[in-house]
Amino acid sequence: MPFYNDERWLGWLDLLATDDYVIIDDGISIELFETILQFFVRMEENDQLVKAGIGRLDKLMVKSEIRGDFIHWLDSEIDTDLNLFFLLMDELKDNLKKFCYLSLSDSEFHIAKYPIGSHYHKHLDQFNERSNRQISVLLYLNKNWKNGDGGELKIYSKNGATLIEPLARRIVLFKSAELEHEVLTTHVARYSLTGWLLRK
Ligand code: OGA
Ligand code: NI
Repeated sequence: MPFYNDERWLGWLDLLATDDYVIIDDGISIELFETILQFFVRMEENDQLVKAGIGRLDKLMVKSEIRGDFIHWLDSEIDTDLNLFFLLMDELKDNLKKFCYLSLSDSEFHIAKYPIGSHYHKHLDQFNERSNRQISVLLYLNKNWKNGDGGELKIYSKNGATLIEPLARRIVLFKSAELEHEVLTTHVARYSLTGWLLRK
C-alpha cells in the first residue's frame, strides 16, 4: 500500500518541477510524527547530536556564524524506528524516477536541532566538492510553532522570496542545485529532519 496515490504525487511533483519547490502539509501521519519526535528526544538525551559543519563530509569547518544547528546522521539499517519514514522516502524516489525521469541512487538524512538564537546563512545545498545532491527534503517537527518563534525557512525562488513556517508534519521539497535558502534566527529550539536524494 503506497502512502499516496499517483494523483497526489503528480500534483506535488508538478509544482516541484515548475516552481523548484513544493510544500506538503501534513505530509506524515501523527503516529509517525510522534515516533520521530521520540527518536529525536532519545538522541538528544544520549548526546548524539553534534555541531554541524560546512563543506565536504561536514569535516572541514564548523562556523556557528554561518550555521548553528546540531545534527545526527541517520542510518536506515540501525534507526529502524524510523522505518516508515524511510519507506515514504523510497516512495518519493520512485515517483521522482517515474514522473520526472530523475536518476537517483542513494539518499542521506539527518535530524537537526537549531538552538535558540541560531540560524543558517543563505546557501545552496551543493558544495563545490560535492554536487550530487539533487532534491532537498525537509520535514519539520515543531508542534506548537507560532508567529514570532522565528526559524522560518526563507527561500529565493523565481517567484521571489518566500517565508515558510517550520510547522509540525510539514514537508518541503526543493531542487538542491537551484534554490537558494536560509534559516532565519530561531527564538525557540527548532527541530527538523533534513535530507537529500542523490544523483546517480
Ligand atoms: C540545510 C537547510 C533548512 C531548514 O540543512 O541545508 O537549509 O529549514 N535546512 O532546516
Ligand atoms: Ni540548505
